[in-house]
Amino acid sequence: MRILVVGSGGREHALCWKLAASPLCDKLYCAPGNAGIAAEAECVPIGAEDVEKLVAFAKGEAIDFVVIGPEAPLVKGLADRLEAGGIAAFGPSAKAAEIEGSKGFMKDLAAKYGIPTARYARFTEAEPAKTFARTFTPPIVIKADGLAAGKGVVIAASHAEAAAEIDAMLGARKFGAASAEIVVEEYLEGEELSFFALTDGTHALPLASAQDHKRVGDGDTGPNTGGMGAYSPAPVATRDVEAAILERIIRPAVAGMAAEGRPFKGVLFAGVMVTGDGPKLIEFNCRFGDPECQALMLRMKSDLLPALIAARDGTLANFDLRWSGETALVVVMAAEGYPEKPKTGTLIRGLDAAGAVEGVTLFHAGTRRNAAGEIEASGGRVLGISALGRDAADARDRAYRAVDAIDWPGGFCRRDIGWRAIGR
Ligand code: AMP
Ligand code: GLY
Repeated sequence: MRILVVGSGGREHALCWKLAASPLCDKLYCAPGNAGIAAEAECVPIGAEDVEKLVAFAKGEAIDFVVIGPEAPLVKGLADRLEAGGIAAFGPSAKAAEIEGSKGFMKDLAAKYGIPTARYARFTEAEPAKTFARTFTPPIVIKADGLAAGKGVVIAASHAEAAAEIDAMLGARKFGAASAEIVVEEYLEGEELSFFALTDGTHALPLASAQDHKRVGDGDTGPNTGGMGAYSPAPVATRDVEAAILERIIRPAVAGMAAEGRPFKGVLFAGVMVTGDGPKLIEFNCRFGDPECQALMLRMKSDLLPALIAARDGTLANFDLRWSGETALVVVMAAEGYPEKPKTGTLIRGLDAAGAVEGVTLFHAGTRRNAAGEIEASGGRVLGISALGRDAADARDRAYRAVDAIDWPGGFCRRDIGWRAIGR
């Protein structure tokens, strides 16, 4: 098969690494890819959101299957456009990607189909939003309805802060069209985890659990990021918790989306809070998490490609995947200044030594080669140092041994990835 992966991050590097290992894969392209992905796939300089060019490329190169990594092209309808052009694509239609593209839509879906989630309401006017916010004891959660590059959720510590945030989003259009509508909701207390399932529109095949580290600094301090590290499995996801997530969150969502005429095919990513009252849905995403995907791909023993094809074809029932019982842990190395103003163009050395550490695989997220052929940083999150180990502590030790072999004065990472799992 001739395969095209769309995206340029660590998630897409992990997908390319796994797909390149499939005996079914004859030729692998990635658009636009990065310097690490170039070792697995032929990179083509087309942006992940350039729908027209991607469709033209897929047709011109007789691509058999396209795997779409990020949410933005899915919400823009890349999967629909490819399928309409006769090219099979992994990833939901634009109508199904609304599950991530509109927080209000996702909350209404949960309410309609009995999925446990935080109490909420949707607003386009500031005054009624503030009145509703006053019905909660702080903290209060304010969310932009649309995609806001992971920055659209604010946890307000007081009613005054909530009111100011409501004005910033609805009044000043802090996130442009994405905050023309907002969701105001109850704050959920508990431990957060990510859960992933492949779905074919009807069936859900559970993949695995993971935990991310959203804040930039050690001890979960500082601004939110796309994710500074992750591991899988998440110990908080006991057998009972996983069963509850499947029965009360994933399956009703898959059935609900089908009933709404928006069958969801692809990977359904549930952000879940494990509360005293059982698991509750925080949000759905319509794609793999980044860096959670890197941890999942390290643990997946089976061939990924037939599973993705089965999700697209509607033949996931009775499909099974084998997983390593080991823990996979990813430490993200970011460019100095991330998330506000990452400094790009700094030289990275020592990658070969790092990659030689036992159990370690390096996934690139934001790298390019300079004129001299050396690797330099080209984005905010730059590398995902990933390791398998017999438990979280072992995987962490291996990952940090590799981190310490990297010579990159322009980069940094958190030193406490895995603390929740290791502290248990
Ligand atoms: P997002 O940027 O959409 O991934 O969400 C940001 C983060 O906000 C989530 O990962 C949670 O940690 C937090 N969050 C969102 N909604 C709630 C809620 N209702 N209660 C507590 N935390 C929340
Ligand atoms: N790491 C969280 C996300 O991909 O949304």
